[in-house]
Amino acid sequence: MVRYVLVAIASVMLLAGAARVAGAQQRVEKAPIKPTPVGDAGKMFDTYCAVCHGKEGKGDGPAAKSLAKVPADLTKISARNNGTFPETRVKRYIEGLDEVAAHGTRDMPMWGDLFRSLNRDTAQLRIAGLSDYLKAMQK
Ligand code: HEC
Repeated sequence: MVRYVLVAIASVMLLAGAARVAGAQQRVEKAPIKPTPVGDAGKMFDTYCAVCHGKEGKGDGPAAKSLAKVPADLTKISARNNGTFPETRVKRYIEGLDEVAAHGTRDMPMWGDLFRSLNRDTAQLRIAGLSDYLKAMQK
């Protein structure tokens, strides 16, 4: 089964009537999930997460405006948790095992299923890599 995720596509806008480039814009579309190297968390973040959370993780990606809930500022997870990075909770959240996901009301995709659709054996490695990546992003 093909799984779809949101992706941001940079498109070039042409000014009506004038043959010149007016500026780059980002468009958000659904596209089949693309494989990325399992060991490259930065590439995974840019490919899968930045569309909502923003390149810097601050919650300001191009798809953020169209979501019911504002994507979390991922640079402040520790700050919101008395200065400790809650690794287990973050991994469960990314995977989609948290209570919100269980009740089907969260905006964030369940990455466990999506990563298993790429390869069952490496899904947990991807989640662990992303958790470490977020940990290094804390301000
Ligand atoms: C479609 C938009 C979207 C995408 C793509 C997305 N997220 Fe999220 N994320 C959200 C939203 C919205 C929230 C806020 C809670 C909710 O779901 O209602 C959130 C919350 C989170 C949280 C919880 C933060 C906290 O303080 O508890 C983590 C961790 C997280 N996202 C990580 C990721 C990672 C890692 C990826 C990429 C693999 C990702 N997100 C991709 C929308 C998204």
